[in-house]
Amino acid sequence: MMRSTVRIQVWMILAFAGTSLVLEVSAESYLSNVSQCGNIIKSYVGKNESFPDAKNGTFSSLNHPHPYPSKTHCRYDFIAASDERIQIVFTDFNLYHPDENNPREGPQKIDKSRDCGGSDVLSTFVYINNQLARIDDYCGSNTPLAAMSNGRKLTLEFNAPHSSRYVRGFNAIFAFVKDFGIRTGRQNSTEKYPCTFIFNSSETSNGTFTSPNYPGLYPRNTECHYLFYGRDGEYVELYFTYFHIDGVQPCDEESHSDYVEFSNYMPVDRKFDRQCGTIKDLKMKSDRKFFRVTFRSNDRYDATGFHATYQFNNVANHLTIRNVRSQAFDGKKATLTFIFIAHITTIITEIVLLT
Ligand SMILES: *[C@@H]1O[C@H](CO)[C@@H](O)[C@H](O)[C@H]1NC(C)=O
Ligand SMILES: *[C@@H]1O[C@H](CO)[C@@H](O)[C@H](O)[C@H]1NC(C)=O
Ligand SMILES: *[C@@H]1O[C@H](CO)[C@@H](O)[C@H](O)[C@H]1NC(C)=O
Ligand SMILES: *[C@@H]1O[C@H](CO)[C@@H](O)[C@H](O)[C@H]1NC(C)=O
Ligand SMILES: *[C@@H]1O[C@H](CO)[C@@H](O)[C@H](O)[C@H]1NC(C)=O
Ligand SMILES: *[C@@H]1O[C@H](CO)[C@@H](O)[C@H](O)[C@H]1NC(C)=O
Repeated sequence: MMRSTVRIQVWMILAFAGTSLVLEVSAESYLSNVSQCGNIIKSYVGKNESFPDAKNGTFSSLNHPHPYPSKTHCRYDFIAASDERIQIVFTDFNLYHPDENNPREGPQKIDKSRDCGGSDVLSTFVYINNQLARIDDYCGSNTPLAAMSNGRKLTLEFNAPHSSRYVRGFNAIFAFVKDFGIRTGRQNSTEKYPCTFIFNSSETSNGTFTSPNYPGLYPRNTECHYLFYGRDGEYVELYFTYFHIDGVQPCDEESHSDYVEFSNYMPVDRKFDRQCGTIKDLKMKSDRKFFRVTFRSNDRYDATGFHATYQFNNVANHLTIRNVRSQAFDGKKATLTFIFIAHITTIITEIVLLT
């Protein structure tokens, strides 16, 4: 379940209510009476699976984009291979909602659509320790954010007692992915850290990177490493154009926070505090040529994560630029002093880099 910014402020209340919001029933008993909407959609697991090539595809409510039958209650089950995640991206969404049902103008977008009482509902579930965990309920006509499983299984439950002559139902793309929906960098999976991405200055000196499944909700129980490798004498600068991680300072286990961690090393770097919550214009800079960014989500609540740019810079070039600038308005004497300081700084930096 996604928490809005406003709900972050009432975090303490939610923290105690949290356990009741996580649906803790065994998947079998909850879904036992809900029939399949079609075939179970499986990734290529063995040579004899029912959908051998279905790494992606579309699925939709019955008759889409025409009204689905009333009294529809069924489920869509997805099963991935062990190294895959299931990603669901909605492309059309329009279900019966009592407050939106204006027969003259047809369904309208309204804010109330997050309150799904009395409406037709599509719910997304993932499985945490074999228990069903509800990611969210969707209703009305606001297209839901993309969802991603934390493991091999994901289930959608479509409970639509009403329908109406104006609804279109929904249409979505499913994909079995290994890249966690992270589309930049070079993935370097290991068995322990499948979500590891390398950003190598020798290959690309600048670009962007995002949390898994961005701009959708990031998956639960997921750890991703973004490793930045500069060339000698370089450092990397990061600028987060969007940052929304579910949690409160100090972003630790006690507050059940998801977080982003920064380090000049592979191990923990005490120089940087963990970051979570909503942060505007977050900027980070490595001390030397290596930098690590780690994203970690837990088994409850989700948010939309982050989008950031990176730029590798050369320490020496950076000083030259400042030097030229100072020349423009400080005169020759100041420039010479600046060049002297710049050189000293470069020498000191090199000494630091060598040690
Ligand atoms: C499933 O249906 C049976 C019989 O109709 C009922 O006894 C049982 O409580 C239902 N289970 C759930 C989880 O709704
Ligand atoms: C797939 O199924 C066919 C027919 O049931 C069988 O002959 C074949 O051996 C199976 N292949 C594999 C790889 O299990
Ligand atoms: C599935 O993936 C292929 C190859 O990446 C792409 O061409 C196709 O458009 C995708 N289909 C859907 C429904 O996303
Ligand atoms: C990439 O992964 C391999 C193991 O699969 C590991 O040996 C190697 O060090 C990794 N490369 C980097 C740059 O981390
Ligand atoms: C970065 O790219 C260069 C050139 O392709 C390569 O020699 C180097 O091993 C790469 N470093 C890492 C950490 O992948
Ligand atoms: C960013 O990278 C592109 C190509 O990788 C390059 O053409 C461009 O000059 C770079 N921009 C900066 C500011 O370094």
